[in-house]
Amino acid sequence: MSAAPPSFDSPYFRAALGRFPTGVTIVTAEKDDNSHVGLTVSSFNSVSLDPPLIVWSLSRGSSSLAAIEHCERYVIHVLGSDQMSLAGRFARGTAKERFADVPMTKAPNGAPKLDTPCAAWFECFNRSRYDEGDHIIFVGQVEHCGHSDELPLVYHAGGYDLTPKKS
Ligand SMILES: Cc1cc2nc3c(=O)[nH]c(=O)nc-3n(C[C@H](O)[C@H](O)[C@H](O)COP(=O)(O)O)c2cc1C
Repeated sequence: MSAAPPSFDSPYFRAALGRFPTGVTIVTAEKDDNSHVGLTVSSFNSVSLDPPLIVWSLSRGSSSLAAIEHCERYVIHVLGSDQMSLAGRFARGTAKERFADVPMTKAPNGAPKLDTPCAAWFECFNRSRYDEGDHIIFVGQVEHCGHSDELPLVYHAGGYDLTPKKS
């Protein structure tokens, strides 16, 4: 048995997917030459509590693909509601432009971490990868994490929700 062809076109599919609100993250990793790669990612989600696993997917067309496929660890930063400009910056331009003036530090096991407050962060061991369609699915095993009281940035219907409510 195999799937029937889609009954919709790509724009319609994108619009339907856009009805699902997500958080916004930045994933950072180190290349073999010790320079950094980083990009904005909204496909992040939780997988398992024990062991602690998360998932996200990366476009096959990503210029960061080789670096992320080969890195041992990466850091996922969940952005706060006031970090829209950082989300925009890490979705365009070169790695040099993305990291210009952005203070960096290291997570406890050495993966490069943005040295800026965010809603949460996860240092992940690069545990497994799965080829699916035009993306690669990455499963990370969380070794360290932190969180704050920052409200998260929310992405929905192709834009940012600028009015997150306190619970
Ligand atoms: C809100 C938002 C969410 C995004 N989520 C993803 C994602 O989950 N996976 C992905 O591959 N690209 C995602 N992108 C697109 C990448 O950030 C963008 O294509 C970036 O330029 C890729 O950089 P790279 O070529 O250095 O990897 C997202 C962009 C935005 C603005």
